Amino acid sequence: MASESVRVTVGHRQRWAVETMAVAPDDQVLEIGCGRGAAVSLVAGQLTTGRIVAIDRAATMVRLATRRNLGHIDAGRAEIRCAGFESADLPTEHFTKIFAVNVSLFWLGDAAQLIARMRSLLAPGGRLYVFGERPSAAHATANLAATELLLAAQGFATTTSSVTRGQGRVLTCVIGTPVE
Ligand SMILES: C[S@@+](CC[C@H](N)C(=O)[O-])C[C@H]1O[C@@H](n2cnc3c(N)ncnc32)[C@H](O)[C@@H]1O
Repeated sequence: MASESVRVTVGHRQRWAVETMAVAPDDQVLEIGCGRGAAVSLVAGQLTTGRIVAIDRAATMVRLATRRNLGHIDAGRAEIRCAGFESADLPTEHFTKIFAVNVSLFWLGDAAQLIARMRSLLAPGGRLYVFGERPSAAHATANLAATELLLAAQGFATTTSSVTRGQGRVLTCVIGTPVE
């Protein structure tokens, strides 16, 4: 697991997430639970022929994210929809990168079903990124292990990374690559 200290900045969580994914100009990206759309802006800013679809089930968040990303939406680089991941109409085998930042996707519903759906939406060679911000190193370690177990059970090979920021908080990422 990589570990280092980072300076606290506005949007540090999303910034680290987007850096970790190393977005390519032609990526087809899906964000689940985009909130106010900070990561959408960062991802879309790196796309040329690629596109990001971002969903959030909260209409208020979708309004804020849309307002923040009007330029990217008008340019065709971003689409922001009000939808829950469980029922969202999304193309299969399409996305090169699927990610979520601080979304309690796996702990409230049927995790196996959700992860299987994520897998079905990934293009060949695509990757799943599950990011979180944890209050302590112990929480981070436990969450990384639990997330890796869930992804492995659905046929993903996993790697993890984390960074420590101020006040002992830890940003975490589990990267899942589907195995045949
Ligand atoms: C804690 S916020 C994080 C927002 C943003 N990713 C961030 O890092 O600031 C979680 C967001 O995920 C959304 N969300 C939770 N479960 C979801 C689901 N199953 N489908 C779509 N959105 C979901 C919530 O509405 C909320 O806006």
